[in-house]
Order: sequence, then structure tokens, then C-alpha cells
Amino acid sequence: MQYRRLGKTELSVSTVGLGTWQFAGVWGKQFDQREVNRLFSRAAELGINLVDTAECYGLDHLSEQFIGNAVAGQREKWIIATKFGHNSANKLGDENCQPEQVLLQLEASLDALQTDYIDVYQMHSASNDLFDNDELWTMLDKQVQAGKVRFLGNSIGRPNNKFQPKRSLEFGISVIQTIYNLVKTQAEETVFPFAQEQDLGVIARVPLASGFLSGKYQPGHEFDSHDVRSWRPQAGLDKEINAALVALEQKPADLEPAVWANAWCLRQARVAAVIPGLKSLGQLELNALSSDISL
Ligand SMILES: NC(=O)c1ccc[n+]([C@@H]2O[C@H](COP(=O)([O-])OP(=O)(O)OC[C@H]3O[C@@H](n4cnc5c(N)ncnc54)[C@H](OP(=O)(O)O)[C@@H]3O)[C@@H](O)[C@H]2O)c1
Repeated sequence: MQYRRLGKTELSVSTVGLGTWQFAGVWGKQFDQREVNRLFSRAAELGINLVDTAECYGLDHLSEQFIGNAVAGQREKWIIATKFGHNSANKLGDENCQPEQVLLQLEASLDALQTDYIDVYQMHSASNDLFDNDELWTMLDKQVQAGKVRFLGNSIGRPNNKFQPKRSLEFGISVIQTIYNLVKTQAEETVFPFAQEQDLGVIARVPLASGFLSGKYQPGHEFDSHDVRSWRPQAGLDKEINAALVALEQKPADLEPAVWANAWCLRQARVAAVIPGLKSLGQLELNALSSDISL
């Protein structure tokens, strides 16, 4: 496993991390604590130390709860990045980026994760209007001063958003999470230059284009109704699957599609880590291999 500096945070993160939206049970599979424990213990053996989650991944912070139990007793070995402001899944309502509500979300995340601190606390794909709120970032800075948060991050919605990455320094943000993969490369023009300028740590999400870069899906594939991919119109899905299949035509013959797709993101020095979403031990082991591939 290779490690990179997460920008100005100086945290050393494994270049392959764990994406845990899947633990919410909305990717056509339900998880239980036993399975999550197995995944975390294998991830630790493989040298993985970065995990991405959010308060809204599952009802009542389900993904965070699984993670909290899995890392209990070895919290300090993990770099936990979670998110606020998008909690359609719990009782606080839909758009919750008002400072007093974010504070409630933070306390609930600390509780679910069974920890006193969050390593990277990210805004969760908010609109520019919600982002541009001095009061919010001032409140969050106080949480950093209080030791509840180590670093502030922003997981931007669309990768073509320049407004938010540009203003990271102004709001004390040191980590940017963005969509970046073989078929969605916009971040190279929009996010990476600002990240370079402000020394932001970059986390690349959706590195497998929602699984389509694994090469296992063909246009016309119908996803289970409990799988988030079924929420998209079929025509859009087919377009994304086709784009992924075209990208895979360039794949070196000796590499598994998912391994190549993750490693392709990591060829950008500005990307500190990819966080492929995780559904099984086999996927975890395959994704981990990407870290040692240099393209
Ligand atoms: N707004 C935000 O902040 C935001 C939004 C989206 C995601 N995220 C974060 O980013 C993470 C990754 O994004 P994502 O899960 O949407 O997309 P992704 O990582 O591109 O795709 C994940 C899917 O790919 C498949 N997969 C994973 N590893 C594989 C392997 N080795 N071989 C074959 N298939 C494999 C799995 O689905 P199947 O096996 O069912 O195909 C998995 O559910 C999420 O878990 C979450 O932590 C954040």
C-alpha cells in the first residue's frame, strides 16, 4: 500500500480508501456488523487507513455506526472523513447547513462513530448559496479549536464547480472531495488547479463510475429497485455504461478493469486517494491492488 500527503493537513493517507455509502443498504445489498468488521480488519491488514462516510448514509447514521463499532479500540489507526448537511435520511429535514443544525449533526456523528474527533469534516455537496455562509464556517472553525474536528473539507457536488474550490482558503477548508474517473475528468480543469494553488488534499470519489468501469455491465442492465443506480433514467444509465465501456478499450491487457480505473485516477499526483465504494471482500482486495500500480 502506498501513502500520500493529504495536502496541507499533512495526514498520510493510503492511496486507496474505503467508500462506505454502500453500508447504507442502498446499493442492492444490506450489510451487518459482522461483515463490516471483517472488511475493516482485512482493510487494516492491507494497509488501508482512510474511510469516507456521511451522516446521511443510512437511517440514524447507519454507516457511521457500523464504522464506529468496527474501529472501536483502534480509532487512532484510522483517518475518518465524514460529512454534514445532506441529511435526507434522518429526522432533521432535508437541507441542513444552518450552523445550529450542523452542530447537532456533528454531535450525532461523533456519537455514532464512538469518537471524540473527526479527522476530516466535509460539507456534503451543498449549493453555492449554502456554502457561502461565513457563520457556518466560523462555527466549524470553533469545533476545530475545540478539538472535535481536525480538518475541514468540502465534498463538492458537480466536478465543474469552480466557485467552491476557489474559496477554500477563505473558509479554512483543507480537503476537497470530487468526482474524478476515466469518464468524468472535469476536475482536472476545475478542482486540481485550485487544489494546487491552496495546497488542498484531493480525495477522488466515484473512481469506478458507479461500478461501470468494472466492465461487468452492458447497456440495458436493470438494477434492483434497492440499488441507487435504479433511480437514474435507463437512457442516462446506458449512456454512462457505454462511456465506461469505451474508456475500457484503452485498458492494458494485464490489468483488471477496476484496478486500472483506480490506478488511472492515482496517476495524478494531486489526487491523494481514491475511495471506491465497497461491497465485498473480493472488491476490497482488488481495489487495494491499485495502490501499487504506476501508470
Ligand atoms: N456527494 C458525495 O460526497 C458523494 C457522492 C457519491 C459517493 N461518495 C463517496 O464515494 C464513494 C465511492 O463512490 P460510489 O460508491 O458512488 O462509486 P464507485 O466507487 O465508482 O462505485 C462503487 C461500486 O462499484 C462496484 N465495485 C467496487 N469495487 C469493485 C471492484 N473491485 N470490482 C468490480 N466492481 C466494484 C460496487 O458495485 P457493484 O458490485 O454492485 O457493481 C460498488 O458499489 C462512496 O462510497 C461514498 O463514500 C460521496
